[in-house]
Amino acid sequence: MAIGVFDSGVGGLSVHHRLVERFPAADFIYLADQANTPYGGRPGEEIVDLTRTGCERLFAEGCDLVVLACNTASGIALRRLQQTWLPGYRRGLGRPVNVLGIIVPTIEAATGLPWEHEAERRGDKVEKLDILAVFSTPATAASRVYEIEIDKRRQDVAVFSQPCPELAGLIEAGAPRDELAAAIAGHVKAIATRIGRAPDRAILGCTHYEITADLFREALPPGTPLIHQPQATADALARYFERHPEFTTGSDAVRRFLTTGRPGAQSSLVAAFWGAPLSFERA
Ligand code: DGL
Repeated sequence: MAIGVFDSGVGGLSVHHRLVERFPAADFIYLADQANTPYGGRPGEEIVDLTRTGCERLFAEGCDLVVLACNTASGIALRRLQQTWLPGYRRGLGRPVNVLGIIVPTIEAATGLPWEHEAERRGDKVEKLDILAVFSTPATAASRVYEIEIDKRRQDVAVFSQPCPELAGLIEAGAPRDELAAAIAGHVKAIATRIGRAPDRAILGCTHYEITADLFREALPPGTPLIHQPQATADALARYFERHPEFTTGSDAVRRFLTTGRPGAQSSLVAAFWGAPLSFERA
């Protein structure tokens, strides 16, 4: 059975790319909800409904496992769907299906700790504070998921989130590089002003931003480590398959790319990232 990869648009391709490198023989179906992108400025209930609809579509296409390659969907919708929808839906389908997100693996990579580990609050003096910047959509920033979950695990890491309201939409539309560079430089400057200095590390907490990771690297002080969300997700999925042998990945190296929006060629920005022109079929 295929692995489904879901995003509001082209951002999840950054995760898909790394998953395919990790599981080259597996079958993959990518779904971009481009009819409704961007998600990051939408109310929470809409994000939950759109994410559920995307998962249903991928399960109907034959996927057993869906990776939400979207921080906004993972942070806002995943827990709700796991609690209120997935158990009944799974029973109705009569086969084991699951939905996984990308925030847990990212937090594990950022803290260097397994998800189950929560720090004891002993009130020890923190000798050196590690300042972690998270660039994300407004919905992810408003959820404070990175602040809350990292604070539970590491008292020596301080998280500052920078919402970037226009950025996913610009990337989705394939905006020119100078426009993207100016927007990214503005957000890097804004967060450094808020912190009072440059961050020590950063998370590109919206999968679209990976497509412009080079522009973030240019705007941040040279050598600032970026926590690589696609890699963290691929590592976490490999561990998941070890724990859950009931999920198989297919073995025909199927690659399908579906969109709820306009089918056809994606932007030259996407082609440059992908290394070749990429065309989507109608979902
Ligand atoms: N790529 C998505 C994320 O990681 C969503 C961007 C959007 O639709 O606003 O958050």
